[in-house]
Amino acid sequence: MKRQPRSNPRSRKPGRSVSIVGTGSYVPERVLTNDELSVRVQTTDEWITTRTGIKERRIAAKDEYTSDMASRAALAALEQANLVAEDVDLILVATASPDMIFPATACFVQTKIGAKNAAALDVSAACSGFLVALEIGQQFITSHTYDTVMVIGAEKLSSITNWTDRNTCVLFGDGAGAAILQHRDEKSHGVISTHIGSDGNYSDILWMPGGGCKQPITAENAHQHLQTIHMSGRDVYRQAVSSMIDASKKALDKAGLTIDDIACVIPHQANVRIIEAIAERMKIPMDRFFVNLDRYGNTSAAAVAIALDEANRTGRLKTGDYILMVVFGGGLTWSSTVLEW
Ligand code: UT7
Repeated sequence: MKRQPRSNPRSRKPGRSVSIVGTGSYVPERVLTNDELSVRVQTTDEWITTRTGIKERRIAAKDEYTSDMASRAALAALEQANLVAEDVDLILVATASPDMIFPATACFVQTKIGAKNAAALDVSAACSGFLVALEIGQQFITSHTYDTVMVIGAEKLSSITNWTDRNTCVLFGDGAGAAILQHRDEKSHGVISTHIGSDGNYSDILWMPGGGCKQPITAENAHQHLQTIHMSGRDVYRQAVSSMIDASKKALDKAGLTIDDIACVIPHQANVRIIEAIAERMKIPMDRFFVNLDRYGNTSAAAVAIALDEANRTGRLKTGDYILMVVFGGGLTWSSTVLEW
């Protein structure tokens, strides 16, 4: 049953309001199934399905980079927004798997889509990056610095996965999602509230320790897989559940809403058990969550961006609905956003 939006959430910010005027996404063609993985490492479709909910994930081609996937998602979002690349003032790419350490992947996207009037930079907040970038983009519009901001979450996690480690290699996938932010006088698709947070005390439970200045990759350490994702799964799981619940409450509180007002929750797509634990503790029926991790696995910064686009294009988001997006990732970092669609 469609919920009636409350007409005047307390925290709708003064100044320019910000709307999502277009979304887009892209996933590579190649599907990697659980059964295929069970040939590579000691695992089974049954273990992966019951412990994570993931059935398959997409893997980018060898010569298909994060910026390529980001550009495909960006162009789809521009088309939906009825805009052209020259209209974009700022490109923010959230990614943990950039084409290179520098320059920013956003600069490659700028060239690939022809956004010659845009500033371009990357946001590093691991899986939380898309919503963190969305908040940053929103601030630039609210402050009248820019009119049109392109926010992208894009990952080629297959390039930073240790394919011999069954603890992690079954979890991740590649893809990209994008959203275009603009001020609109009408309030539809508007950002009502945002929250971001982090706790650097837990950096080492989810990280890629090598490849930076602290542990450069050398001929001597190349075999240690330092340039791949390392994760203490159980610790991350516990932190993910509590942080996402806390972040959800903070954004709802700022919006002057309760969870009962929310028609659709779009959570980080890491593990369906994490989503079920959040559903149980917050007393949210599971059918109110948008879940696509069974098809894509965990695509980190791209996950909520792809899910938002799919929910938008499949008609899951109805005019006037309140939508909650909530994410969690390495850092540790977390973020939440309430939208009025
Ligand atoms: O995107 C950022 C956020 N990331 C996350 O939120 C991920 C959070 N963590 C998780 O989703 C879960 O902790 C995992 C899916 C990573 C692991 O699930 P778990 O239920 O926490 O399993 P576990 O790590 O406690 O491992 C249980 C057992 C272990 O065997 P022993 O030690 O009990 O004999 C693992 O070695 O499962 C074993 N195992 C596997 N078995 C078959 C671990 N991976 C696999 C596998 N196939 N792929």
